[in-house]
Amino acid sequence: MSVDPVLARIDSDLTNSLDRLMDLLRIPSISTDPAFKTQCDQAADWLVADLQSIGIEASKRPTPGHPMVVGHVDGPGPHLLFYGHYDVQPVDPLNLWDRDPFDPQVEDTPNGKVIRGRGTADDKGQLMTFVEACRAWKAEHGTLPCKITFFFEGEEESGSPSLVPFLKENADELKSDIALICDTGLFDSRVPAITTMLRGLLGEEITITGPNKDLHSGMFGGAAMNPIRVLAKIIAALHDEAGRITVPGFYDGVPDLPDELMAQWEGLGFDHKAFLGSVGLSDLAGEAGRSALEMLWSRPTCEVNGIGGGYQGEGFKTVLPSKASAKISFRLVGTQDPHEIRKNFREMVRAMVPADCNVNFKEHGASAASVMSTDNPAFEKARDALSQEWPQEAAFIGSGGSIPVAGHFQSLLGTESMLIGFGKDDDQIHSPNEKYDVESFHKGTRSWARILDALSQG
Ligand code: BES
Ligand code: ZN
Repeated sequence: MSVDPVLARIDSDLTNSLDRLMDLLRIPSISTDPAFKTQCDQAADWLVADLQSIGIEASKRPTPGHPMVVGHVDGPGPHLLFYGHYDVQPVDPLNLWDRDPFDPQVEDTPNGKVIRGRGTADDKGQLMTFVEACRAWKAEHGTLPCKITFFFEGEEESGSPSLVPFLKENADELKSDIALICDTGLFDSRVPAITTMLRGLLGEEITITGPNKDLHSGMFGGAAMNPIRVLAKIIAALHDEAGRITVPGFYDGVPDLPDELMAQWEGLGFDHKAFLGSVGLSDLAGEAGRSALEMLWSRPTCEVNGIGGGYQGEGFKTVLPSKASAKISFRLVGTQDPHEIRKNFREMVRAMVPADCNVNFKEHGASAASVMSTDNPAFEKARDALSQEWPQEAAFIGSGGSIPVAGHFQSLLGTESMLIGFGKDDDQIHSPNEKYDVESFHKGTRSWARILDALSQG
């Protein structure tokens, strides 16, 4: 079975492939908002029908949350488990979008054609690159070169509450030789990538309560403790002058980057001025003495993702608020233990809260970092296949983002993952005006056709 006619078919079918993707993008499958439950269900149904249309045995599997989609198709090569997520992030702030996020369109831009809309890059457009590659193989050769299990999740953007129980219950059905996860990016528009390091993620929400009601800041201010002042002090204490995180024991398990990897990353010639310049900044904000790629890929972070308290409406109000809260996340690397860090963080915070105030903690997920072992020959096969499709050779890179499913495949199924995706840094995932380049979609589909071919060769 030759890959050439498959590639030709992908080229000639591009308009239809884009139409199918648009159909899926029009379904507002926002997993975190209960108001969109029916739409998540509808996206799962759409995928089941689409897989079935290629002759894949597929079904929607209920969970206590949004359904999973599982499909199976036989083939001669190794058994692959393909993962993508059909849910998307909320769209707010809606007024910053130049168009309806769920009325996607192909737009001409100075950098080429892009598909604009929520979920284009994260992750529906990426997920469909794999499906479209399979469609073209099937149409051309009547069969696929590998045995494939498709596994699509609808809760990735809301912390995957049903994932672990589902994997445990269906481990035998999902176990495979290797998992392919399409939810990451290219290194840049010329250099494709296999992501071999993912950071973990720990989420904590803290609420400080002071007085039992909001007060007049003239009548009580000075005498009564202001919980915003307490919160601000805690947040300010989380980093030292050198940008290091001060939670006790935080750096336990943070490895030194091997010299070889460091040299490889330096060889990528990452331009941090351009990277920060694209978002209106210029100075690196992480630990002193570290390169930008280290800060993004191999160093842990602590970020405040949201903060609230007091009067935030129009105008001014002299209030001394009863409560103040912050959502804080830690990106983790190496063998940093999220549970240990949660415990130490809470202890540190409690010690900073004055006797007159209270602190309440709410947890928002905990996943450790994952590092893929590139010894599996599939990595070199996929790297070669990607290098044939793109202008430059594929790189092994790290990623600042978190994809906990890779760790779960490893621990619950014993299946290693290979992360390959075609997103770009300027795709604005999770932000207004998310887009996916038509080139990412088209060459991404062609890349999977080549990778399937490469993996099927003994
Ligand atoms: N696709 C992203 C992860 C990602 C982002 C990979 C950037 C590569 C580059 C994924 O959908 C995501 O956003 N994950 C969340 C974590 C999840 C547990 C909510 C993240 O990284 O914040
Ligand atoms: Zn994603």
